[in-house]
Parts: sequence; structure tokens; C-alpha cells
Amino acid sequence: TATILKEGPLQGRHIIVTSGPTHEPIDPVRYIANRSSGAQGTALARALSALGADVTFVTGPARVPPPQGVRIVQVETANEMLSAVQTALPASAAVFAAAVADWRLAESREQKIKKKPDGTLPVLQFAENPDILATVAQMTQGRPDLVVGFAAETENVTAHATAKRARKGCDWIVANDVSPETGIMGGPDNTVTLITEQGTEAWPNMSKTDVARQLAARIAEALA
Ligand code: CTP
Ligand code: CA
Repeated sequence: TATILKEGPLQGRHIIVTSGPTHEPIDPVRYIANRSSGAQGTALARALSALGADVTFVTGPARVPPPQGVRIVQVETANEMLSAVQTALPASAAVFAAAVADWRLAESREQKIKKKPDGTLPVLQFAENPDILATVAQMTQGRPDLVVGFAAETENVTAHATAKRARKGCDWIVANDVSPETGIMGGPDNTVTLITEQGTEAWPNMSKTDVARQLAARIAEALA
């Protein structure tokens, strides 16, 4: 692979960004997914790269095209995303913008599930996926200096996100309200609250590109 020489405050820093949804197979033709477009994670990878970072972009099947000038690792499932992140380490920072499926099928079927002539419905059993953010945030050796999570909530955004930051052991949480009426999931704009050890900062509504730029600038400051 060619080395891309870049300049900027994040020059020489390796940063991992996860993005997009994951797909969890049910059978060879069906899967469980979510509405993440990958827009915020993609914008973030681009903004970090623009500040000189060497970015590894680990992405599920997103709807937006991947950023240019970064190392792209395409995955499908949460388990694959965890392996890709572990392979990409070490890093100065890791930002977890992916909407990882919380559950996979306990056993995905090798063959397409067929309708039963008598109308009996299939019963799907789930298993919990590994928490990629918590796994990295709680590493005892080789933990990135800065671990940033996102928290997509539909109610009590700040309270839920503050609890999530403590539970997962990450440094920052970028929280947002993804209720359908906000239009944030799949839309061009985002209204986020940044939660750090210092407290809570409500950012004004802005484009996902501007959220990404501001966040990248803050990451550069924190790593400086
Ligand atoms: N995350 C992750 N791996 C998972 C689940 C979530 O890395 N299996 C990361 C997301 O990328 C995000 C953060 O954890 O940065 C919070 O995700 P979220 O879905 O809001 O949190 P959960 O712990 O899954 O809680 P819940 O969905 O029940 O609110
Ligand atoms: Ca979740």
C-alpha cells in the first residue's frame, strides 16, 4: 500500500473510525439491518483525514459513498467489525460512529427459511453482539489515548448518553436525538451534545459535515 503523506495537526496520528450499519444474516437471502446511512461517520473520517490523520475507516454496508484518501475496511456483521478494529489497532484515537446491530441470530440458517404449508411462523432466537466500543475503551494494554462513542437516543438524550459514557468507559460521547421527527437519521444535519469528563456541551444544529469538522478539531486539540 502506498503511504499518503499529509500535513496538519493530526499528521502521523492513526485514527480508527467505525461507520454505517451492520447487517446480521438470518439466512442466505435475509438480514437484520438499521437505518444508519453512514453519513456522520464518513464525514468524520474525511474531516480527520483533512487534518492530516492516517484514518482506518471500518464500515458496514452504508448508503453514502466511502471517503477518499483513507484506508477502507468493509465489513458486514458486528463480529467482523470487531475483528477489523482489533486488526487495525494500535491507534491514537478511535471513534465509533457505527450503528452496530445489538443482536445477531443465535444461529443463522444455512438454507433459506421456507414458509410452512400449515402457516406455522418461524421463531428467531437472538444472541447479543460484542460491544466494540466498550471492548476498546476497556483495554488494559494499548488502549487508544482517546476513545469516542456516539449515542443515538430517542428520549432523555443527555441522561442516557451520560450513563452510557460511564458504563462503556469511553472518554467522550457524542449524543444525538434520532427520533423520526428530527430527520437526523438519513438527513443532512445533526444536533449533538458532546459529553466529556468536563461535562455537557449542547452544540447548535449544523450540517453533519460541520459536526465532523468541529469534532475533528476537538480531537486534534485533545491529542496535541
Ligand atoms: N457500539 C459498539 N458495539 C455495539 C453496540 C454499540 O461499538 N455492539 C457503539 C456505537 O458505535 C456507539 C456506542 O456504542 O458509539 C453507543 O451505541 P448505542 O447503540 O447508542 O448503545 P448501546 O450500548 O447499544 O445501547 P442501546 O442501543 O440499548 O441504547
Ligand atoms: Ca445499540
